[in-house]
Amino acid sequence: MKEFMNIQDFPLIPTQPEAPKIITRLPGPRVRALTGRDRRVTSPSYTRDYPLVVDRAVGSVITDPDGNLFLDMTAGIAVTASGHSHPYVVQAIRRQAERCLHMSGTDFYYASQIELAERLVKSAPMKGKNRIFFTNSGAESIEAALKLARYHTGRQHVIAFIGAFHGRTYGAMSLGASKVIQSQGFKPLVPQISHVDYPNPYRPVGHEKNVTDHSMREIETVFRHKVSPREVAAIFVEAIQGEGGYIVPPDDFLPRLRELCSTHGIMLVCDEVQSGMGRTGTMWCIEHSGVEPDMITSAKGLASGLPLGALIARKKIMDWPYGSHASTFGGNPVSCAASLATLDLLEAGLMHNAKTVGGFLIKQLEAMYNEFEVIGDVRGRGLMAAIEFVKDRSSRDIFPEFRNQVVQECFHRGLLVLGCGESAIRFCPALTVSQRQIETAMAIVHDAIKKVQQRIKGAAAA
Ligand SMILES: Cc1ncc(COP(=O)(O)O)c(C=O)c1O
Repeated sequence: MKEFMNIQDFPLIPTQPEAPKIITRLPGPRVRALTGRDRRVTSPSYTRDYPLVVDRAVGSVITDPDGNLFLDMTAGIAVTASGHSHPYVVQAIRRQAERCLHMSGTDFYYASQIELAERLVKSAPMKGKNRIFFTNSGAESIEAALKLARYHTGRQHVIAFIGAFHGRTYGAMSLGASKVIQSQGFKPLVPQISHVDYPNPYRPVGHEKNVTDHSMREIETVFRHKVSPREVAAIFVEAIQGEGGYIVPPDDFLPRLRELCSTHGIMLVCDEVQSGMGRTGTMWCIEHSGVEPDMITSAKGLASGLPLGALIARKKIMDWPYGSHASTFGGNPVSCAASLATLDLLEAGLMHNAKTVGGFLIKQLEAMYNEFEVIGDVRGRGLMAAIEFVKDRSSRDIFPEFRNQVVQECFHRGLLVLGCGESAIRFCPALTVSQRQIETAMAIVHDAIKKVQQRIKGAAAA
């Protein structure tokens, strides 16, 4: 075998063992020992909903230390775009690691960062010339966008949306409004941020039937009663609200937001940390709307599992001077190499797979919606899809206990899923996922829903 191989020498979708295959009671003995040790020394703030310990992983299959095989519909929270440990990405990491691990792109240059910058600025949904700033995470990309928007416009105020999640650092946390626990006890937050309702077609709020009208009117209300639009630096928006519940806004929302921002010289910042990197079948999710933002933020899938984030902005906007913003690790050479390999794989067919298998996933979820009244709706695009559980479809009262039990039932059957919003389950598998793996996952979700229904009926009858 040659030491390094070309992309053509690798299968686009690596061979994976059949999963799930559960051979112990869960959690097994090794997992119990490890989670016991973990509990004694790690922060209690982590949000582990079930005891999955990863020993090895390939594609969408995870093996735990007891030899149980799980089918993964989480991709490490929408991160491993090219699947767990894709051999082509692993090769790129090895190759770069042998040449140089770190030299700080803030003070020096290296080819992997330059090449990645060239490719990403070209891929951005903004026509014309763009520039990029590299970070290590989603939150840091958001911080960079917040700083740049204030610097470029000379304005202070920022508008963001209820339900949004932008990260855990102070600026990102202040822009978010997802769950109270995320900011409770940490206040005061960064000042000069107003939140308005995100247009949620599945759960309209306010009196207006048209949820876009409602959101736009809320922004107008901020302009009338709180700050002049001339004081607003940016509007931060997710093209699909991720942690908020995989909420797809109506088609007219992003174009109307664009128009409003253009009218008032406000920066439109699209947070693509979860929705970008091919997940929805296009490189960036905002492309579905035809809207060009002024900046996008990226992270998660950007390097298929290595820490890397980015802020991409129009060239004329990224006008901050020498020394005004930087990062020791951001754009690390090994992460950049992993990201370049990920881009190669997206272009070689993974983005197309996200579109086709994602379409299949949504059809399968719709079939389940037709069968189970407890599913209030099916949402999403490509491999960013969710179902929300409701007590009944007419009142649309949410049913978080049902959701939580389905997540647990899935785990015990060897399927890994995560919640999002208050009552939804999200499906954000690797872009390598196959139709067959989706069929297996759907059969397990189906069984899990039936089981929870029986349990709840039984408890009500008792
Ligand atoms: C849309 C969005 N923005 C930002 C973040 C924060 O990213 P990180 O956890 O890498 O800081 C997340 C994480 O879930 C996210 O979904």
